[in-house]
Amino acid sequence: MPVRDDAALAAEIEALREEIRAHNYRYYVLDDPDIPDAAYDRLMQKLLAFEQEYPDQITPDSPTQRVGAEPLSSFGTVAHEQPMLSLANAFSEEDMASFDRRVREGLERDEAIEYCCEPKLDGAAVSLLYEHGRLVRAATRGDGETGEDITQNVRTIKSVPLRLRGNPPARLEVRGEVYMPLAEFARLNERQLSRGEKAFVNPRNAAAGSLRQLDPALTAQRPLAFYCYSIGISEGWQLPDNQSAVLDAMREFGLPVNAEIRIAHGSQDCRDYHADLLGRRGALAYEIDGAVFKVNSLAEQGRLGFVSRAPRWAIAWKFPAQEEMTVLHDVEFQVGRTGVLTPVARLQPVFVGGVTVSNATLHNLDEIEKLDVRIGDTVVVRRAGDVIPQVVSVVPDARPAGARPIALPAHCPVCGSAVERQKGEVAARCSGALACRAQRAEGIKHFASRKAMDIEGLGDRLVEMLVEQELIHDVADLFRLDVNTLAGLERMGEKSAANLVEALARAQSTRLHRFLFALGIREVGESTARNLVRHFGTLENIIAADVDALQQVPDIGAVVAGHVRAFLDEERNLRIIQRLRDAGVHWPVESASAEAELPLSGQTWVLTGKLEGLTREEAKEKLESMGAKVAGSVSKKTRCVLAGADAGSKLEKARSLGIEVIDENEFLRRMPAD
Ligand code: IVH
Repeated sequence: MPVRDDAALAAEIEALREEIRAHNYRYYVLDDPDIPDAAYDRLMQKLLAFEQEYPDQITPDSPTQRVGAEPLSSFGTVAHEQPMLSLANAFSEEDMASFDRRVREGLERDEAIEYCCEPKLDGAAVSLLYEHGRLVRAATRGDGETGEDITQNVRTIKSVPLRLRGNPPARLEVRGEVYMPLAEFARLNERQLSRGEKAFVNPRNAAAGSLRQLDPALTAQRPLAFYCYSIGISEGWQLPDNQSAVLDAMREFGLPVNAEIRIAHGSQDCRDYHADLLGRRGALAYEIDGAVFKVNSLAEQGRLGFVSRAPRWAIAWKFPAQEEMTVLHDVEFQVGRTGVLTPVARLQPVFVGGVTVSNATLHNLDEIEKLDVRIGDTVVVRRAGDVIPQVVSVVPDARPAGARPIALPAHCPVCGSAVERQKGEVAARCSGALACRAQRAEGIKHFASRKAMDIEGLGDRLVEMLVEQELIHDVADLFRLDVNTLAGLERMGEKSAANLVEALARAQSTRLHRFLFALGIREVGESTARNLVRHFGTLENIIAADVDALQQVPDIGAVVAGHVRAFLDEERNLRIIQRLRDAGVHWPVESASAEAELPLSGQTWVLTGKLEGLTREEAKEKLESMGAKVAGSVSKKTRCVLAGADAGSKLEKARSLGIEVIDENEFLRRMPAD
């Protein structure tokens, strides 16, 4: 780079920073970004490159300087120049009305009071000190008098400006809440669990915990955000007249202010605000635990003053708690559509999240073990918005002497079939498959699907309707459906009913591997079904095979052999198979043949390009039926490549390795007709 004039360089870098700050303001404060993320990233990259080239030009308030401080051994303390107070609580309309009455009495006013209404954000309170517009210190609330110095951590929060916009006061203390948006919280917890680390109980704990990391690099990885709700000390500035104007000014200075803030006149308006916010609580991107009402006029706030550690001019009207304690009376297991058993907690009814809850999910057995929950325990139940109530923790000290461990039932509570839980698997499942009422619809959809029995016109919605109206109970009942019954269904005319009956008749003549696949035996996919048929030839042989014999089949290990045996040991499943055969389902006799006897045994083929006369899937099926393996990429082991139109790199590679390449016509010539 050419040598530059220092002043010109500094001006250029500062202009770039200003541009980035302007975008930050639009993004975090106005919620109205005007460039795509990628363009913003490019600006940041450009600034980083500049600063790398000229490190002496780096300033502490540069947008690049959010993380960088070394880990601390402990936090310093900060004495708040003005104490950080708390708020008195209201829990009902009466509480709100008496607060309003006290305010009017205190001010000796009859007319409606103007209130600034704000969401009560559920995070951690912080104080940010700006001097000449620069963030110089951030502190926790602590006991209200003394907090901890968390400056390096707060600097990593992207919505906290390192430098204020416009013409800020010489000193300004901004107060507000650091919180974690709900979507980010869920993502963080997934990440924690996938790394084998503990999940956070709620976004508030996650936010508070993240702020108290000694290593700012760790805080930087936590998705924190900030909303400003008041100010502390300010010097060199004419305070506005009221709270809402203070917040407007903060917004002008580039600080994020919550968008749900409104002005109310009198307590009735406040009530409406509370009800409206409560109704939308579940749809907000962050957690709130109530609404805060503040007398809007700062002069009137001054006249009202404080009582013990709370202002007389504000109140927090809390929402119903989203977490409560109650007793776990019992655990029952529900069977889902795919046979998975979910433990459901039966609870002493408790009012939580605005409703009475008597059932909550325990997710799975791992969760039960992790929580170490027993019947009789006192548990913490959480219900947030429309979310299914869940047991989040156990109160260990409240465990009664007779608390009973929770056991997985040996038999499915719906159909009585054996319950299986594979080693290393979280889910326990009912082995009843087709025979289990809970799994009916899913099993039937699979049975009818294209790669299974291929029953044209029998879509998912129709299956659900047939099951709901109890017209079919299992897959064998499908073949008893007639035009009359079908034509009576919603959106089903004579013609489509007749078509479906024909499709059912067509599907009766199938192939054994399709039939096996259609049964929905766990982990028996198309290719395993094909291998089974190739090895055993007949259904009778497969039914007679023990676990050892099953494991002789290529690609079948102990787990799959176990699933096949469990399915075929279930009397109910055998009855359904028999009924299907009685209803006319049949297949041509397949000769049992060892792998080596098939014409393409031991060969690996690769398909590439567009085929015309058949789909890739059909070509694959043909090849596999002749014993070939079909691979996704060309290697020295490839025996032959079937190349359709517009074949690309795979074809080139095959040619470079001298592998045989054939086109579709040649392929069809070599394959026997189905
Ligand atoms: S005003 C003297 N406004 O609630 C006024 N607080 O119990 C003090 N909070 O520690 C705070 N949202 O963390 C205020 N819009 C809001 C708030 C809010 C949440 C928290 C804050 C404080 C606690 C007060």
